[in-house]
Amino acid sequence: MALLEIERVSLGFAGTGRRAGQASSLTLQDVSLEVDEGEFVTVLGPSGCGKTTLLRVVAGFVEPTDGEIVFNGAPLTKPGSDRVVVFQQPWLYPWLSVRDNVAFGLKLHRRKIDWQTVDAMIDTVGLSGFEAYPPYELSGGMQQRAALARALVMSPKMLLMDEPFGALDAQTRRTLQQFLLQLWERVRLAVMFVTHDVEEAILLGDRMVIMGTRPGCIALELPINLPRPRDERMILDPHFLDLRRQALDCLRDVALKATGIVAGPSGDGDALDGAGSAEVQPRSPSASAAS
Ligand SMILES: Nc1ncnc2c1ncn2[C@@H]1O[C@H](COP(=O)(O)OP(=O)(O)OP(=O)(O)O)[C@@H](O)[C@H]1O
Ligand SMILES: [Mg+2]
Repeated sequence: MALLEIERVSLGFAGTGRRAGQASSLTLQDVSLEVDEGEFVTVLGPSGCGKTTLLRVVAGFVEPTDGEIVFNGAPLTKPGSDRVVVFQQPWLYPWLSVRDNVAFGLKLHRRKIDWQTVDAMIDTVGLSGFEAYPPYELSGGMQQRAALARALVMSPKMLLMDEPFGALDAQTRRTLQQFLLQLWERVRLAVMFVTHDVEEAILLGDRMVIMGTRPGCIALELPINLPRPRDERMILDPHFLDLRRQALDCLRDVALKATGIVAGPSGDGDALDGAGSAEVQPRSPSASAAS
């Protein structure tokens, strides 16, 4: 049995303010996805397709309108420290030291703080010697590593990462990708990792999920059969390049579908309104895995 089973989940947000009382269109429709224990799944899709919403549903922050989620064998109904979110911004408390920030989640969940474990985690993310520093005296990459330590110290079963490197410069981003790859080799947690970067999605993941938009759905799943441990030299591997091409094709089709223009067989952008061969349909995981 998979660690996470998302079964035909749909979600519509109720309108607020001037739109109060109006039924909104669906943000997610019929999303089905499984993540195994220790599996690294990367999620790509156009802006606004519902990637963050999907993570928030799995985190238990938002309840689906329809469908079911089973986590670790039980229905998922609320947030829990077995699923921890790492956001694009590290959201560290400026008045707390690195050490207190890392221990913060434990305090919040009223768990006993083992300072040796906290310090070991700070060491794991390469911040030994910075325990007493306030976050504003750290670089952006160091702050994100502190946020990662705060998540990992909870011993979650799954990490939910929402574009965690999206706000960093290209060099820091590459360094943190390598860092995350090495860390994950050691901890082997289940991860759902949202990104806009196709190469990042392939380099990190065991499987890449591409979402379609309006409403958000699973457009394509691609297994990534690159050996581990991985490093950035693999971006020249023929399998890497083939995955990159498939992902870019799918993202282009998804974007065209959202504008009402669907690429024809020659990729020349026929306005077929759903009748083209490149149309992206919501798929079940089993159907897409076979494609
Ligand atoms: N609390 C909310 N109330 C109403 N609508 C919402 C809410 N949260 C998200 N949405 C809508 O859901 C859709 C998906 O938003 P979401 O943030 O999940 O997209 P995303 O794929 O993460 O985009 P991006 O790549 O830009 O981060 C958007 O149309 C957004 O307006
Ligand atoms: Mg988002």
